[in-house]
Amino acid sequence: MVLRKMWLNINGADRMIVCNPEKDTLADVIRGIGLTGCKVGCGVGQCGACSLILNGKVVRGCVKKMKNMNDYDKIETVEGIGSPEHLHPLQQAFITYNGLQCGFCTPGFIVSAKALLDENPNPTRQDVRDWFTKNNNMCRCTGYKQIVDSVMAAAAVLRGEKTMDDITYHIPADGKILGTDYPRPAALAKVTGLCDYGQDIAMKMPGMLHAAPVTATVRHANIKSIDFSEALKMPGVVDILTADDIPNNVFPYRNPYPRTRQTGLDQPLINDKKVYRYGDIMGMVIANTMREAREAAAKVKVEYELLPVYNTILESLAPGAMEIHEGIPNYFFELPLHKGTDTREIMPKCKATATVAAYTQREPHAVIEPDNAFAYYDENGKITFQSKTQDVFGFCRQLAHFFKKTPDDFRSIMNPTGASFGYTVWPGTSALAVACLLKTGRPCNVALTWKQYQFWTGKRTAAFCNATLGCDEKGKLQALQYDIMYDTGGYAETSENMCWKGLRYFGFPYFIPNADALARAAYSNNPPGTAYRTFSATQQFTPSELLMDMLAEKMGMDPFDFRYLNIAEPGQTMLNGNLYLQYPMKQIMDTMRPIYEEYKARPRQGATPNKKRGIGLSLGGYTTSGPADQSQTDIEITKDGLTVYNCWEQLGQGADVGTLIMVYEAFKDLGITPDQIKLVQNDSALAPETGVAGGSRSNYVVGNTIRKLANEILPAMKKADGTYRTYDEMVAEGIPTRYHAQWMHTDRKVGPELARPSMNTAMVPENTTIHPEWGYIFHVCQVEVDTDTGKTEVLSIDTVTDIGVITNGQGLRGQFYSGIFHALGTALKEDCWDPDKHGTIQGCGVLKCNETPDDIGVIYLENPREYHPFGAAGASETFQACAHVAVLNAIYNATGARITEMPALPEKVKAALDKVAAGQDAAPAPYDFGSDMFDVLDNLEQIPEQVPAGH
Ligand code: FES
Ligand code: FES
Repeated sequence: MVLRKMWLNINGADRMIVCNPEKDTLADVIRGIGLTGCKVGCGVGQCGACSLILNGKVVRGCVKKMKNMNDYDKIETVEGIGSPEHLHPLQQAFITYNGLQCGFCTPGFIVSAKALLDENPNPTRQDVRDWFTKNNNMCRCTGYKQIVDSVMAAAAVLRGEKTMDDITYHIPADGKILGTDYPRPAALAKVTGLCDYGQDIAMKMPGMLHAAPVTATVRHANIKSIDFSEALKMPGVVDILTADDIPNNVFPYRNPYPRTRQTGLDQPLINDKKVYRYGDIMGMVIANTMREAREAAAKVKVEYELLPVYNTILESLAPGAMEIHEGIPNYFFELPLHKGTDTREIMPKCKATATVAAYTQREPHAVIEPDNAFAYYDENGKITFQSKTQDVFGFCRQLAHFFKKTPDDFRSIMNPTGASFGYTVWPGTSALAVACLLKTGRPCNVALTWKQYQFWTGKRTAAFCNATLGCDEKGKLQALQYDIMYDTGGYAETSENMCWKGLRYFGFPYFIPNADALARAAYSNNPPGTAYRTFSATQQFTPSELLMDMLAEKMGMDPFDFRYLNIAEPGQTMLNGNLYLQYPMKQIMDTMRPIYEEYKARPRQGATPNKKRGIGLSLGGYTTSGPADQSQTDIEITKDGLTVYNCWEQLGQGADVGTLIMVYEAFKDLGITPDQIKLVQNDSALAPETGVAGGSRSNYVVGNTIRKLANEILPAMKKADGTYRTYDEMVAEGIPTRYHAQWMHTDRKVGPELARPSMNTAMVPENTTIHPEWGYIFHVCQVEVDTDTGKTEVLSIDTVTDIGVITNGQGLRGQFYSGIFHALGTALKEDCWDPDKHGTIQGCGVLKCNETPDDIGVIYLENPREYHPFGAAGASETFQACAHVAVLNAIYNATGARITEMPALPEKVKAALDKVAAGQDAAPAPYDFGSDMFDVLDNLEQIPEQVPAGH
């Protein structure tokens, strides 16, 4: 190996380094000297996480080879821009204006923005957006708007128009921080580049080994042989890991669902017999460095017997298709739904009907930080793993299955995490890290490349749906028929759960008296479906909100008025029998009406013959918590204040600030300040189980545990004179100082209705519901479609929403902009199935700054929720549920081309426009699932069904 000594001027100081000029990148060198504010996400120059300033210009360190560097080149990193004691205005502004969520991209944005402001101290918002777009600064969390806000505020300080104090948050005079923009506790470390994420920690740990996977490069094949012999001869290789090293080599997805024909044990951790989709892991190579491990893994030879590839379930369900999992039919699950009268009687009597074939694609979470985990023995000899988990304790249970141990044999710790959006409910990478630890007896780190992460972890489940909706002569909805087939990919994982949960979203928030439906699931050779923000709702809202527009048109009604006519009344039932209870949809629509009228007045403004503009609507919502939910938190009284212990996983959404604010509010009678509240979170050895950070449940369940704790602790601290005991007084009087609370959904006395006698009757008894808390949302957007190319741009989007009382403004807005950003990507660009196209952040369609509108308006209505101590309902999922359909409806409004299959890529829109121009129907024909919905419904055995846990 040839090495080179160099001098680099780093953050103003000349420093000697020695590097491998051919292989090392500038990011390798900068990270290697401990400046890990330079993050590596994509590793191929597409995301900007590794941005550095080199001789005054922004460069992406991951693709800047050291052989192209010169002695005394000047490099500026985020650590040189400012420190916690001396923040640069950009760093302060990112904290105050919420320019970060997970924070993984943040150092790159701050470095890039510093270079911009050095060059142009007075940029416009568009200048800032152009700069980030040009320099490939990508963020998956924020939707960019608040990043631009932050840069504009910092620029004002640098120009002397504002002071640092002006852009610093101050606690209001009344001391109330609930509902304010109180900053995230973790923000300071993130804006200064001092927050270490998984790979930063791993590279600084002593004695760490590194493991790289051997991944399948085909999509469907029998594995004839795997030959590690060449890999074992490579420099630095210590060991290999094969399927034989895993005591129980299968993911534990046994499930409680009736009518499933799969076992729940269909996915190996390490594939040694068959490849079911691109990216399956067939072994690991363990070496002294990650580079050595990856180079050796590339030497492993795999011999395949190729099998037919089924790109979608339309192919795997076609006659003659082979079983992807031998002995299990490709179509393996169905769930019927009946409401009211048989729709075959009702539908023909309807005044108008609309029919759609709609496709929701396999959407990638596409986080900037690729998946990683490491494992070691802690000071008590316990098997400890650190990962991006959003289910700290659940991972212990799942790992116990793989290794035939008990959950108590493991300690699970969540690292600072570069976002998840759902995929880290799945413990695969952690299991590999633990397997390497058990095999070698040494600390071991597993880090996937971005492409490996993209194709090994789950995605939003794709779904094909045929649906018909009918109304009477007044426009009142009368009947719905829908047949939705989930394309669950190579493994079943969450598909039955998806079918169950989805039942509550089709037709929401309207009242539809009669419905027949079938939710089904089938295998293909794609990445498997897993949790993703707005789990199970996105696929339902696509056909549901398309149909509302189509039927309104058939009735000659305005789509707003048609929806207004059909929103439910409190006390009416959803399709699955849940009741609409506290229900602000009328208030939301009344609030939206003047905004909609303004949109209607302007849709054609700015349009040209080949740039057509239109507007679109969509309504939706999402549930919070569920009947089997439970959660735990501890609070300890200390000399300094309170210490809070929970495992509300921090994914960038604000688990830290949410906990802190609710504790502060609940204990405000003690007169403590926020900085007297210490958080101990996300370590199974130190804090109790809070449950998965998913489904917008966490604020709601944690809030309830905190309420219980306050109800116990405050009376225990209170003296006869009404003042509160100090810690020392508590100890002196022998009063406990640490308290534990478990809150269960059944505390709300909704237990008895959980037994549904049959899917053929009303699912829940009268006047009860299993999902009483919902978030509600209504969007209107404007798009411009280039009729020459088919390219669609979203010009603006306005939203009215009600998710109860706001706990933290920063967290709420972060989730809102993020949800909108993902939804627009769903509508227009994002996809994940093709290894050649979708293996990079930009290739899979994540929107860049200039592809995301800056004109985003939102009104939050705050109707306090009865069962949350401060009135919150949980926010996250609601914001991503249905905005994608507003975009599709706006494309139709602009052009007359009805796009029902996402993403609405330019070539797809152009083809539809050409069909419309030729007088043809642009809509796809109904999908052929190989069996008719009513044939299936009529022949299903009527079995008593219990609602599975969580539904
Ligand atoms: Fe370097 Fe993405 S651009 S890590
Ligand atoms: Fe930008 Fe998470 S805050 S990627």
